[in-house]
Amino acid sequence: MSPPKFGKQFPHSVNYFNQQKMLKFIRSDLSQLNAYKAHPGSDSAEPVAMQFDRLDTNESPLDLPPEIKEKLAWTYQQVIETNRYPDGGHEALKNAIAQYVNESANLANSPFTAANISVGNGSDELIRSLLIATCLGGEGSILVANPTFSMYGILAQTLGIPVVTVGRNQNNFETDLEAAKSAITQTQNPPIRVVFVVHPNSPTANCLTAAELTWLKSLPEEILVVIDEAYFEFSQTTLAGQLLQHPNWIILRTFSKAFRLAAMRVGYCIAHPQAIAILEKVRLPYNLPSFSIAAALMALENRHLLLQSIAQTLSERTKMITALSAHSILEITPSATNFIYLRIKTDDSNSPVTFLTSLNQKLRNQGTLIRLLPNGLRITIGTAAENTRTLERIQSALQNESNYHSSASVSTLP
Ligand SMILES: Cc1ncc(COP(=O)(O)O)c(C=O)c1O
Repeated sequence: MSPPKFGKQFPHSVNYFNQQKMLKFIRSDLSQLNAYKAHPGSDSAEPVAMQFDRLDTNESPLDLPPEIKEKLAWTYQQVIETNRYPDGGHEALKNAIAQYVNESANLANSPFTAANISVGNGSDELIRSLLIATCLGGEGSILVANPTFSMYGILAQTLGIPVVTVGRNQNNFETDLEAAKSAITQTQNPPIRVVFVVHPNSPTANCLTAAELTWLKSLPEEILVVIDEAYFEFSQTTLAGQLLQHPNWIILRTFSKAFRLAAMRVGYCIAHPQAIAILEKVRLPYNLPSFSIAAALMALENRHLLLQSIAQTLSERTKMITALSAHSILEITPSATNFIYLRIKTDDSNSPVTFLTSLNQKLRNQGTLIRLLPNGLRITIGTAAENTRTLERIQSALQNESNYHSSASVSTLP
């Protein structure tokens, strides 16, 4: 939409939309901040065209089945009063989530109840609430191991919270534990108050290792450990059972991935009741729309049906990894989730960054969006048809890549 033309009424309006300098009332550090881009390369204000194969945001490629959508539409028409505020206490949803957490972690005696659950407008909201509850006002810094989910750092920066980063082992992507330990000892004013880990990590697709777990268990009670299990349904590996021994651990989960509800923005966290009580104080009163609450409840009621598609995603993942591994220039690492991470094997004379950027762009030109990262590419597992197209497009992009001709055979795609 083009800006309205105020012309004569507002003689200064010419400058209004062309203002280059930052408005003077904005916090100076925010001008440098790079916001999260859902689909980098496009103007994120615009919805990305449906005709793209969108393999860049780790969603499920499948919409809700029509019968569930119909039930949801019926709920919208017959039950939800749009003139009324939503249920601000989320009691029914928290009970259903607690039951799912107990069941999915095979926990005897159902230890988790609604008192252990808080829900957010996506787990992104919960990340922000956790930062507000722990680090705001100069009380703490956060620690992340890069590459990882970018929102921890972005949200911390928006709140003026320092972000300390360490690297990862380049073979198995384990956190550089020596660097992490020394960062915790050395970071003062403010000290590290929160460690964020992802299990399995995005973009590298690996679960936490035994050594990482030992380290997390050794962290003192004044450090909060956030274990982001956004991809739990794909990895089927959870630390929920260990939460009861560690009051300073919190698990984050989301309905945006395996439950196919990214559009509804529902995430949740599992934690000690005291931590939950603080999160409930920090959040906005009606943070979840009624429609989103209804959708999450319906997804949980129909979980067996919805989660059946995971088997197909995992077999498609095997298909992708096998096919991509046939390209000797691509380095594919194991994946515990619904995306794969690949890097480029080049000798010193070739720049991996240039190669990755070019491959990403070529795929985009052919209609496939994937995620370009500083040292690799992340590809979400899509439908069988999307994956086949992606493999063909990668094949074609590599065939055209002049660097590639000398070092690899291009006719090996199964
Ligand atoms: C590790 C991780 N955590 C959290 C999220 C955000 O989830 P939500 O849609 O619930 O905000 C994502 C989304 O990609 C993610 O990869």
